[in-house]
Amino acid sequence: MTNTSRSNGICYKTFASENNIMQKRLRILVADDETAMLNLFEAYLSRSGHEVLLARNGFEAIDQLSRTNIDCCFTDLNMPRMGGVELARHIHERDNTIPVVVMTGDPSSENMLGTLKSGVVDFLVKPFQMSKIKESLSRVMREKELYVNNLLLKAEYKKTEKLTQLNQELKQKIRDVEISNLILQQLSHVSSSRELFNVIVRMSGRISDCDEAHFYLYKETSRTLVPIAAYKKDSRPTINAREMARLKLAKKAIQDGMPILYHAKNGGGSAIATHFKIRNKPFGILISSRTNAQNPLDRKDLFYLNLLSDKTSIALENLVLYENIYENLFSTLTAFVETIEARDAYTKQHSVMVSKISVALARKLGCSGEELEALNVGGNLHDIGKIGIPDNILLKPGKLTDAEYEIIKRHPVIGSNIIRHMGMWNLEEKIVRCHHERFDGKGYPEGLTGEEIPLLARILSVADVYHALTSDRSYRKKMSRETAISIIFDSAGTQFDPEIVPVFIGLFEKSAINSLEAMTV
Ligand SMILES: [Fe+2]
Repeated sequence: MTNTSRSNGICYKTFASENNIMQKRLRILVADDETAMLNLFEAYLSRSGHEVLLARNGFEAIDQLSRTNIDCCFTDLNMPRMGGVELARHIHERDNTIPVVVMTGDPSSENMLGTLKSGVVDFLVKPFQMSKIKESLSRVMREKELYVNNLLLKAEYKKTEKLTQLNQELKQKIRDVEISNLILQQLSHVSSSRELFNVIVRMSGRISDCDEAHFYLYKETSRTLVPIAAYKKDSRPTINAREMARLKLAKKAIQDGMPILYHAKNGGGSAIATHFKIRNKPFGILISSRTNAQNPLDRKDLFYLNLLSDKTSIALENLVLYENIYENLFSTLTAFVETIEARDAYTKQHSVMVSKISVALARKLGCSGEELEALNVGGNLHDIGKIGIPDNILLKPGKLTDAEYEIIKRHPVIGSNIIRHMGMWNLEEKIVRCHHERFDGKGYPEGLTGEEIPLLARILSVADVYHALTSDRSYRKKMSRETAISIIFDSAGTQFDPEIVPVFIGLFEKSAINSLEAMTV
């Protein structure tokens, strides 16, 4: 170690590495067509403890290689049949970490070594001193170590690079699935198209982290865009100029028939226009915008907003279809009920009022939105089965015979059968079927008791009786509200659910029912 003043880690390491190489017993292949040269190599390298394999030309060298592994090769450049360069290529094809030292009498042939594209290569110019062999061997073995380390590092780097890429792809896929699930989860709670538009703008805020999202309904007949739902990240006031820019972008998106990713010049923010279609026809445009020019909306945001558009377009198609069928069906059935009630002036508006009182009572009892909607429909349709009762019985002014009463008692079953055939109103069907059941089991058609009677039917029966008692009939005058309430109070636990009656009376005391009745006058 002569450079003691520079004995830093690197210097020391090189020295130690060199020693290690020379101390190791190596298997060295020597190829030369001069026997004297082969003998010299054998004697010299064996003395240093190495194993020496000899070959008189390239083919003999390849033969040796086919039988054993080597650590290094010294080869003459010019040999009969196969020269040194070709042998070096052959060795490096097998294993390009094996160093090859090419010996030549012509220094200009160094250029030929340049044709060897990879692996460790050195050359010795003949004639050379024997010590040069050792120096060359030491040099190529050290280079080999560096070369192998470099290859390992490259492989490691590639592996890391691949892992990073896979990790990136995985993260992306997880985000795709998360957003897909989020959209589906939000859509599963939507029950009307109006609600869906609000979900769309809110979802745009969550997916793209935009500052504002506006949904415009496109009316094809008038070719106009109508703002229908909006989301704002904070409470900044709406700027008219932005509204104009949004409309312009929405119009362009309609004209182009494809989504637009827009970046305003001079740091004016960014926006994305996404189409929403029903049966391939645009019915709306969503404009999502971000004012931060340093972090504009990008292709990823466009991808996720398109995903939102795809999923909601399908949901909306189903909703609109359902709403149309539902509305058509409901209005047809309501028309039936109105026809029945029109036959008897005394029962006019009865179903509408029973429906309103039931919904108010159910709301007070904490029923869900779905149950309130079922009561609204069920209340309006509860006596629809009377369509099957002959007028002479239904409109009879005097007392009914037992036989006539039995016929009247069929109306809940007839009504529930009508509803069942619609195939979409499960709760409503039960309400209609059970609205004359009594809590004590003395009702009809099944004679169900207590909680066997569906809750919504128990609610409706209170409203039904209350409204019947407080309305004029052909055979009696209407009772006062107080008398009706008193009758209902006395029937708690017999005709009515004892837990519902106090809530109903509470509603009455707060004048809630009075105001409902006033509304229909
Ligand atoms: Fe009824």
